[in-house]
Amino acid sequence: MWYLCVFFHRLLDYRRAEVEALAELFGAFDDGVGDDHHQLQWKLPERHHPDSPFHLVNLPSEDAARNIANRSLLVKGIYELWGEGDNYEELEKAVTSYPDERKLPYLATETTFRIVVDSFGKIINFEEQNKRIQSLKFIPFKGRVNLKNPEQKFWLMETDDYGSKNGLPPVVQKRIFFGREVGAADRKLLPTYQLKSRNYLGPTAMDAEMAFLMANQALATKGKLVYDPFVGTGSILVAAAHFGAMTMGADIDIRVVRDGRGPDCNYGLPMPISLLRADNNLPSWRQGLKEIFDAIICDPPYGVRAGGRKSGGRKLLKGAVDPYTVPDDKRTGHIPSTAPYSLAECVHDLLELAARMLVMNGPYTDDIAELAMKMHLEFKENHLKWLEDGNLHSAVFSPTSSVNGASGDSNFNRDSKPKYRGKYV
Ligand SMILES: C[S@@+](CC[C@H](N)C(=O)[O-])C[C@H]1O[C@@H](n2cnc3c(N)ncnc32)[C@H](O)[C@@H]1O
Repeated sequence: MWYLCVFFHRLLDYRRAEVEALAELFGAFDDGVGDDHHQLQWKLPERHHPDSPFHLVNLPSEDAARNIANRSLLVKGIYELWGEGDNYEELEKAVTSYPDERKLPYLATETTFRIVVDSFGKIINFEEQNKRIQSLKFIPFKGRVNLKNPEQKFWLMETDDYGSKNGLPPVVQKRIFFGREVGAADRKLLPTYQLKSRNYLGPTAMDAEMAFLMANQALATKGKLVYDPFVGTGSILVAAAHFGAMTMGADIDIRVVRDGRGPDCNYGLPMPISLLRADNNLPSWRQGLKEIFDAIICDPPYGVRAGGRKSGGRKLLKGAVDPYTVPDDKRTGHIPSTAPYSLAECVHDLLELAARMLVMNGPYTDDIAELAMKMHLEFKENHLKWLEDGNLHSAVFSPTSSVNGASGDSNFNRDSKPKYRGKYV
């Protein structure tokens, strides 16, 4: 069935991806048809730009829709759409002709309900909101109003022509939607886990919203093992542990491993099964060990706020001194020398790690493996040129430029770079 999926207007490129991951997590694809069915269908409302917060998604059941919405960070709500229109006359016609058997159970005498008026691209004051609610009298609500804890929440959502006045591309045009809420994001967990609530912080500690979003995309859940090879202060593992996953992390910096102590610090979450002082460039896995992690989630050192480091001092790596063993009397408190670790090498090592240590038939499907391989080859071929051009980040990490591949041309195309979309991105 098609549902109206309304997103928060932020992190635009991550919104559908989060819903798709959660659909997989909640078994929305387990229809017995087989593996090649792993894709959600999406549509946009009439005259809405892909950046619009309003999308239509086809989900197999209301339970799936509710589970996805309730666990998501970027879904404001998923709604059973009772009607839409360019004006209130059209909306009334559409809602009236929506089948009674779908509407009446939610309007019955014994239910409690609330109507929420929401808008995008404009502000509707309290008085106008009340007028809008009065104009819905044609819907036979029989239940009692309960503003605090209603069984049913109905949403009247109005969008204005948005974007034309502020220099951004127009993302939505005037449209009115009316629907019954099936599920909504629980963003209360963000204040709980916000960085200022932590005892241990670093200069690159990851913001809670991004960490939870990554944990969602990686399908972190009970019974899964999640690894962060650049664990830092552990923000990603906090999110994965919140969702019930077992966690494990590593960092080359002994101070964060020793003092950070991972997810349990403030929140009473289970400790990681292991926190290692380890270099991603020099894997410490025993020979033959493979397929251990269900997901590897990380925020590698991109060299923006802090560069990566790898084991071995400059002299050692240049071959100017031979490998040596630290004498016993100098071992206590010894901090091994490190040298710069380039982003190219880091991405290469991460792909090696993923190929070896991710379990087969996990969330990482053939499509993702194929895409990763394509991006890896493209990166290998072009990274020096991109570095010189100063385009490395957008070229490598833009999902739109790689997935759609606009022209199918593997060479980086300047126009395919994601555009700055103002304060929301
Ligand atoms: C961007 S930070 C990660 C921050 C982390 N997500 C957090 O919330 O605190 C990158 C981390 O990678 C670590 N690092 C740099 N080079 C490394 C390497 N070769 N192997 C493992 N960790 C490394 C740094 O010490 C730093 O803690």
